[in-house]
Amino acid sequence: MDTITMQQAANYVDQEVEIFAWVTNKRSSGKIAFLQLRDGHTYFQGIVVKNDVTEEVFETAKNLSQETSIRLTGVVQVDDRSSLGYELLVKDIEVIGESHDYPITPKEHGTDFLMDHRHLWLRSSKQHAIMTIRDEIIYATYQFMRQEGFMKIDSPILTSSAPENTTELFHTEYFDEEAYLSQSGQLYAEAAAMAFGKVFTFGPTFRAEKSKTRRHLIEFWMMEPEMANYNHEQSLEVQEKYVAHLVQSVIDNCQMALKTLNRDVDLLGKYTQLPYPRIEYTDAIELLQKNGFDDVEWGDDFGSPHETFIASQYEQPIFIVNYPKTIKPFYMKVNPADPRTVLCADMIAPEGYGEIIGGSEREDDYETLKQNIIDFGLDLEPYEWYLDLRKYGSVPHSGFGIGLERAVTWISGTEHIRESSPFPRLLNRIYP
Ligand code: 4AD
Ligand code: MG
Repeated sequence: MDTITMQQAANYVDQEVEIFAWVTNKRSSGKIAFLQLRDGHTYFQGIVVKNDVTEEVFETAKNLSQETSIRLTGVVQVDDRSSLGYELLVKDIEVIGESHDYPITPKEHGTDFLMDHRHLWLRSSKQHAIMTIRDEIIYATYQFMRQEGFMKIDSPILTSSAPENTTELFHTEYFDEEAYLSQSGQLYAEAAAMAFGKVFTFGPTFRAEKSKTRRHLIEFWMMEPEMANYNHEQSLEVQEKYVAHLVQSVIDNCQMALKTLNRDVDLLGKYTQLPYPRIEYTDAIELLQKNGFDDVEWGDDFGSPHETFIASQYEQPIFIVNYPKTIKPFYMKVNPADPRTVLCADMIAPEGYGEIIGGSEREDDYETLKQNIIDFGLDLEPYEWYLDLRKYGSVPHSGFGIGLERAVTWISGTEHIRESSPFPRLLNRIYP
């Protein structure tokens, strides 16, 4: 007898199998018990027919409580009424671990309660679906990067430099020195790009942002590709191809998850069509002003209502390109066509999900970059190694960062980013 998960049901129709599962719910009458089960991959039904099993097995079935772990044997049957298409006709049940008074019941619970029980909430079908999509996006990233000739490199988590913004740093001690938790692996990725051509980092990043929004995590994972001898337009082409690949991979490999989440697959299909529109920052400001947003003027950064409005004019993700120099980090290269702006872009997801990618061409001239560091009020010392990259065979290069949880939230159609991380770190939450 094979041990299987119900994912493999199609290969085992009418055969007896062993399955390890947890009980999510149960109904029983005098003659039959319907068990709602999950085996870690699949949510499925087990049927226990009184006349088919020993009295002891039927008693066990009737008494199973929510989240009891069990070992089942039974026969896989076709069941056209269920979304899975199969069910298990149970022959035997052995209880492995009992479960009493499981806190998350089938009734509605508030968000705080669920977040306090995140370690258990992960077992629900919706959370399973979101984590399945997260897993797919990670896998599809490695696949795409390998196919496109990128090398995965790992950037340090303990750092002495602050690429994005010195006010959002987590400070820590590094023996006698001050250190920070990484905000971005980019600067290290740039060094690696000069060593290996095309690279990407993928790791945890930390921002002590006091933002309590549905888009912000304190700890999030970021994929950061960096390409030597790529100008910014070439980087945009990589970005859209990569995002389309992520969406297509989810469409192809996560059908059950998308169904559980009621995600509109036709809508997702539109996001695989290339190219994505490019809108100049300056034009975006004008568009906003023409549409009654009198709170923005040239030089301002966008808030989420602005991003949502601009994106709503299009059916695909869009790039807003060439932001003012003053609202972007020190490492971005000036736009020769308009030196008030830099060669950068944010990719804005449709449906109000906001920015999912930030990227730019990097300043590759030693003197200009050094001056930028000074102008931004940063100490030169922690950036000496970074400046070295411009001393020894500097080349034009570009890269970008995509927030894993932002991508998961958008592609899965989830309301709030907290559900896109298995154990989210939020402004007021580090438990569990
Ligand atoms: O725009 P950001 O700050 O860009 C960088 O960190 C660059 N160094 C990336 C690069 O060029 N290599 O962040 C990049 C992306 C954002 O577009 C967003 O998807 C995500 O990281 N992100 C967050 N995700 C969740 N919570 C937060 N607090 C985030 N901050 C940024
Ligand atoms: Mg950004």
